[in-house]
Amino acid sequence: MAGAALAEAPADEGVIPSFTVTVIVRRFNPEKDDEPYWEDFDVEMFSTDRVLDALHKIKWEKDGTLSFRRSCAHGICGSDAMRINGRNRLACKTLIKDLDISQPVYIEAIKGLPLEKDLIVDMEPFFESYRQIQPFLVASDNPDKERLQSPEDRARFDDTTKCILCAACTSSCPVFWTDGQYFGPAAIVNAHRFIFDSRDEGAQVRLDILNDKEGVWRCRTTFNCSEACPRGIEVTKAISEVKQAILRGQP
Ligand code: SF4
Ligand code: FES
Repeated sequence: MAGAALAEAPADEGVIPSFTVTVIVRRFNPEKDDEPYWEDFDVEMFSTDRVLDALHKIKWEKDGTLSFRRSCAHGICGSDAMRINGRNRLACKTLIKDLDISQPVYIEAIKGLPLEKDLIVDMEPFFESYRQIQPFLVASDNPDKERLQSPEDRARFDDTTKCILCAACTSSCPVFWTDGQYFGPAAIVNAHRFIFDSRDEGAQVRLDILNDKEGVWRCRTTFNCSEACPRGIEVTKAISEVKQAILRGQP
């Protein structure tokens, strides 16, 4: 394995410094590998590059079989959550220079979901939990104008509207790793978004669903989810607010 080498920054003003970094990716091809294995790549990067740029460089210049998901490349679509140096992050939001580039950068798929190929996991169990909590407005009326809401009422669920369904929280949760039946933080965050919405009428149904043995009570408050969230959502706080609403019997 080649070690990471930090080159001298060019003296020319306006030139973006470059350096060589060793990226070690956990590879797996179900058509030929019995087990995942680690593979090293030395890549020339610029200080403005992100981990996603390193993966593109490997795929486009070194090994076209490297598989990973990405779409927007700007922290919006949520498709490129992965474990970077043991921590869940979005590859498109992680600057290489912000990692310890004197050491190799380790990249692997998020944990707790079935591994399909290289950095790609099967997201279906994650989205199945999401669908179960009814992530949509439930309302029996059919008004001919907008449903009004006070700023105070809107503020109750403002934080959880920011979720991009990247699964960084759920796949960093040790309870989810050991029990794939647990709804997981992301589903609870998205339930929270509607439970505390004054225009919604489905709160009690969602609270009943999350009062299940695989619901909020499985949370062990490890805060991994809050630390992993690339949108800065206070995930553990949202879970705690749902627990309190269940105990109160109302949002
Ligand atoms: S709560 Fe944060 S980490 Fe979890 S799915 Fe939503 S955006 Fe991703
Ligand atoms: S590629 Fe869309 S969030 Fe990173």
